[in-house]
Amino acid sequence: MSRAAAKIADTIRCGDALTVLRELPGEVVDCVVTSPPYFRQRDYRGQRGQVGQEKTPADYIARLRGVFGECRRVLRPTGTAWLVLGDKYDDLRQLGLPWRVALALADDGWILRADCIWHKLNAMPSPTRSRPTTDHEYVFFLAKGPDYYYDADAIREPHVTFTENSRMRGGRRHFGVRGGTPENGKNAGSNNLHDGRWDQAFHPLGRNKRTVWSIPLSKFRGAHFAVFPEPLVELCVKAGCPAGGLVLDPFLGSGTTAVVARRLGRHYLGIDAAREYCALARRRLKAER
Ligand SMILES: C[S@@+](CC[C@H](N)C(=O)[O-])C[C@H]1O[C@@H](n2cnc3c(N)ncnc32)[C@H](O)[C@@H]1O
Repeated sequence: MSRAAAKIADTIRCGDALTVLRELPGEVVDCVVTSPPYFRQRDYRGQRGQVGQEKTPADYIARLRGVFGECRRVLRPTGTAWLVLGDKYDDLRQLGLPWRVALALADDGWILRADCIWHKLNAMPSPTRSRPTTDHEYVFFLAKGPDYYYDADAIREPHVTFTENSRMRGGRRHFGVRGGTPENGKNAGSNNLHDGRWDQAFHPLGRNKRTVWSIPLSKFRGAHFAVFPEPLVELCVKAGCPAGGLVLDPFLGSGTTAVVARRLGRHYLGIDAAREYCALARRRLKAER
């Protein structure tokens, strides 16, 4: 880690995200993991200047563009961001805000690499009967530039179609071997499983992570709503930040990103506008020691 990064590592700064970010040096952060307040969803402790309380969706999008512009500046050239956002209804109309924000960020130069769905396994029931109940949010994966860091192996998931015990002839011997198609095996000639795909189907660490993440809501009930589930942050940190790197959350809330980053051997930098939440995050970090 650079000297400039070490100076800001493992601190929590209380203040407006954009203002604090503007004071940081450039190219020091490896990965951003964050969930900004959603548009007109909640009032976080009546603070002034909260993100999410803008008058119109356009103002909200412009505000997030400003914050993410600064995030981009402080990211190293290999840096990435994971942005968790949920949508909102205005009267009957769904606003489509997650995608509107993601596309605006793409216009600003971010490379949008994936839209993952956080499927909330235990989402609150809703009284609505005129449309399906929403039980997902988006997790956008954005890269600062084309040569970004991503550790696919760190977040592989169990094979479903094929297992190590597959009875396919020669199966195991083809683990991790690109082009290692068993010529006379049971599935030889399958259009779906040849050449490069074969090593994926039998990768010893599991198949490549998929874009639907089924994760229950957080159990942490420490005086903050909208707390990240730790397993979700774990995926983002493991894949998006090298060991010993620096993870930034400009909307830290109760401190989940910092807690998970430290547990995984990364450094953290957290920002939140509410003093109470900064104190809560510090207490949570201390209790984890
Ligand atoms: C959705 S919550 C984040 C929750 C967090 N992911 C967690 O696990 O606890 C959004 C946070 O953004 C903070 N916030 C709102 N406006 C802000 C601003 N202008 N600058 C920095 N933080 C702000 C709120 O105080 C709130 O804690």
